Amino acid sequence: MKITIDGPAGSGKSTVAKEISRRLGIPYLNTGLVYRATAYVCMIEGLEEGEVLKVFDSPIRVELGIARTEVFYKQENISDKLGSEDVGKIASQIATFPAFRERINQFFRSLMGEKQAVIEGRDAGTHIFPNADLKIFLTASPEERARRRYEQLKSEGFQVDYQEILRAIIERDQRDASRPLYPFKPAEDAVIIDTTDMKLEEVIEKVLNLIKERG
Ligand code: C5P
Repeated sequence: MKITIDGPAGSGKSTVAKEISRRLGIPYLNTGLVYRATAYVCMIEGLEEGEVLKVFDSPIRVELGIARTEVFYKQENISDKLGSEDVGKIASQIATFPAFRERINQFFRSLMGEKQAVIEGRDAGTHIFPNADLKIFLTASPEERARRRYEQLKSEGFQVDYQEILRAIIERDQRDASRPLYPFKPAEDAVIIDTTDMKLEEVIEKVLNLIKERG
């Protein structure tokens, strides 16, 4: 079974996707982390806007496990270097190039093949795996999403400002929604869950029930 979990930044998709991966014992693909890895490699290799596709010729390797996606570049595990807002910003900029999205989606499809997995990403159910067995779209108010992101970054040791994060979230939502090709929106057959006032366990229970129904 392939389960896609889409949603905007801070909607809780990573936390939920990892927990579902754990409970079902199937691998977890965090597509945002791979976007971030390509952005990071573009940054360190100094690739210009017109050259971003070259990043797919570089030695990037993705390893999947239960509740775990790790990215290696030239044998080095770079997964812990990808959490900053700077890397996220570049990722969201290169994500606006249709040719880049086509290429990275191909990469995801060949990485996963017929494997069972939980796939997390903004367009996992619309463009990466349009035939997924269950598509979940998580959402929450921008303020709640900024609060969660703030708490997360603070706990990871980053110096952060709530208002700045809220601004960045709103800006990124707008950029992601206004892409002429592949604008960010739920798949027509996605189940939309607004998590603003929900506890994590409630969200997990709801997703597990949906999986049982489809199973
Ligand atoms: O999910 P995360 O915030 O780590 O992703 C970083 C950026 O990569 C997003 O803001 C988005 O612009 C882009 N992205 C995307 N499609 C995905 C995953 C990430 O456009 N499936």
